[in-house]
Amino acid sequence: MTDANAPFPRKIDISLTVNGERVEARVDASRHLVDFLRLDLGLTGSHAGCEHGVCGACTLQVNGDIVRGCLTLAAQLDGADVWTVEGLTDTGALADLQAEFVTRNALQCGFCTPGMLFSAADLLAGHAHPTRDEIREHISGNYCRCTGYEAIVDAIETVATARAAKAGVPA
Ligand code: FES
Ligand code: FES
Repeated sequence: MTDANAPFPRKIDISLTVNGERVEARVDASRHLVDFLRLDLGLTGSHAGCEHGVCGACTLQVNGDIVRGCLTLAAQLDGADVWTVEGLTDTGALADLQAEFVTRNALQCGFCTPGMLFSAADLLAGHAHPTRDEIREHISGNYCRCTGYEAIVDAIETVATARAAKAGVPA
């Protein structure tokens, strides 16, 4: 039976996979995933912007879904499979999107870019031919203060078209 008066444990032991590698850690109960990755594991590709779930800079992948790293507690992730932009860069899963972002000048300072790439990849994983409006809707939770979004939408649309053609998906 749980003792209601027992102090909440400040430290939690977790075992998870990050970018395909096993990680064992003891984390503060209030440690957010983005801070765990950046400060404890040195994976600084996920950015902390608003830290309130608004800007999308911290977007990354947990168990196949995109999440806000600033709204997810590391202590929740025992047994989870976490991927950051570093890991998906190494696997090549984002290579076509990254190349097209560069070609289209879809980044300037780059602060939003890792989160934007995750949102774009999430869209394209479930939608072979998104319209420009659907692309805009899907990335609407990722703020970019530099580009005006047009080049980002161009890049995602181009990759969608190329992937669909390669997979033989009719337009
Ligand atoms: Fe997480 Fe802004 S830092 S949404
Ligand atoms: Fe600077 Fe998007 S490229 S915030």
